[in-house]
Amino acid sequence: MCGIVGYTGPQSAITPLIEGLRRLEYRGYDSAGIALGTPNKLFVEKRAGKLGNLEAALNATLPLTHSGIGHTRWATHGGPTDRNAHPHLDNEGKLAVIHNGIIENYTQLKAELIGRGHKFESETDTESVAHLLSDLRRSHGGDLSAAMREAVKSLRGSFTLLAIHADAPEVIVGVRRNSPLVVGLGKGENFLASDVAAFIDYTKRAVELGQDEVVTIRPDGIEITDLDGNAVKPKEYAITWDASAAQKGGYQHFMLKEIFEQPKAVADTLLGRLGKNNEILLDELHLTKEEVRSLKKIIVLACGTAYHAGMIAKYAIENWAKVAVEVEVASEFRYRDSVIDKDTLVIAISQSGETMDTLMALRHAKVEGAKILAVCNTNSSTIPRESDAVLYTHAGPEIAVASTKAFLTQVVAVYLIGLYLAQTRGVMDSDEVREIFDSMNELPAKIEQILETVEPLRELTRSFAKENSVLFLGRNVGFPVALEGALKLKELAYMHAEGFAGGELKHGPIALIEEGSLVIAVLPFGHEYGLDEKMLSNVQEVKARGAKVIVIAEEGAEVTGAAHTIRIPSAPALLQPILATVPLQVFAYEMAVARGNDVDQPRNLAKSVTVE
Ligand code: M6R
Repeated sequence: MCGIVGYTGPQSAITPLIEGLRRLEYRGYDSAGIALGTPNKLFVEKRAGKLGNLEAALNATLPLTHSGIGHTRWATHGGPTDRNAHPHLDNEGKLAVIHNGIIENYTQLKAELIGRGHKFESETDTESVAHLLSDLRRSHGGDLSAAMREAVKSLRGSFTLLAIHADAPEVIVGVRRNSPLVVGLGKGENFLASDVAAFIDYTKRAVELGQDEVVTIRPDGIEITDLDGNAVKPKEYAITWDASAAQKGGYQHFMLKEIFEQPKAVADTLLGRLGKNNEILLDELHLTKEEVRSLKKIIVLACGTAYHAGMIAKYAIENWAKVAVEVEVASEFRYRDSVIDKDTLVIAISQSGETMDTLMALRHAKVEGAKILAVCNTNSSTIPRESDAVLYTHAGPEIAVASTKAFLTQVVAVYLIGLYLAQTRGVMDSDEVREIFDSMNELPAKIEQILETVEPLRELTRSFAKENSVLFLGRNVGFPVALEGALKLKELAYMHAEGFAGGELKHGPIALIEEGSLVIAVLPFGHEYGLDEKMLSNVQEVKARGAKVIVIAEEGAEVTGAAHTIRIPSAPALLQPILATVPLQVFAYEMAVARGNDVDQPRNLAKSVTVE
């Protein structure tokens, strides 16, 4: 969601601010703005729409300044207009605030501030913070950090806030609660941002901020305190990826680049996970053998694509480790009476590590006594920090809003967890573990093989660009793959798309089928259960009612009734999602391109959903 950048140092601030905002575009936004640290009165420009609109408005009279804050806004309170775009100012135009999140008690605050004579310009919740900070700064003798500490005590909700004041423009103050903010430590310059991508060109040194910590940056240093003003020691870490990882590298879109990075991402997530005695090495799970053996239930919590990875986890973990697994959409979890105890392990899956629904669900599970394991792609983000243990996926930065390589690595991570639990509980011996791990090690080359032969699929996809609706069918682990295929298509092509378990077809969805309907059937699963034949019956059922069917099938598998068959390499049934998902990603990608949609930043979507 909103992207936040702050800069103070020797450079002309506009450069790192605009570059930083550009790097954060992937988060999703509908307006953009900056405030530059000009003395007496801040220079502010903001525009609805894409960053280009803001840049066009920044004309030649732009003042040369060495500090400032910048923002891309994903509208919550008030539409995406120039007026509602951030920064928001106090009535003197000296103090500016940018914000990610929601101030839940803003109506009450606003009423109080209006009562004290403040005039509001926008419909946002954020503007109340600018007015509040202005009053508090005055009562703290011009100390913006002290004002921020006091202001935050009276705010409810989730937020990252940055503020700058014209009387000390080299100082930028930030705070975070349930929303991301990182500090970049440069030489004679410092940065604040929603994530490290914003300042990766300038520094590889970052500092993570805890809940309710206030950070003050100046060119020559930073200070962090809690809300009572007690100093907090900065926790510095090194950023391990370089700027090129966050660039398109010759691809037309980040999404395409990320699809093609999947062989490496899967290989990196598997790297070093098999020990010399054929045991799965997952020391970071921090579970004793006794804890693993006494596990009675696993609950997987996640949203969107990560939820589909959770569904695959259920099939794999129940099959291999014989532990019951429940999978729940995180946003539903804390609003019912779930049965949790100390023998429950909660696995929270999140690419960003900042998804508010998942975070709130894991906090709830923690209070109920569960142990929490995060599966996450983003180092030092909130979800891993609040979990008892974390298994990082190694997808590298995922910039496109539509998740691809993060999904495959999440699936690999849950496979590793399943094998680890199976071996520790004594359900599988080391030879069985080794055999599955060897098959997993073959997946990167098999994904590569799919990607090398993707052109005919792209061409085929273009021929369907005018369809209105696509139904996806799958059984067993093919069912979450079908759901993922449908989600990708909705996000990217803005088309009606639904995924169904093949067996459910005749319980309702088949009524949607008419002459010319497009159906994609994910076939290559469940030889053991005879599900291939059942899927082929589904293909015949929809074909008989006029549907055109594309079948995704393993090499060599018998296929009947398909108008088109997309072949993928064979693999053990439970591992097939890693392969079968790839053509569906390409299908959704190509459909978006063919329909002229914004591939990397689809409308209305945000990469990191930091509000509930
Ligand atoms: O960062 P997270 O993995 O927690 O994000 C969860 C979902 O918001 C995310 O997977 C979303 O569904 C993607 N846009 C799917 O492509």
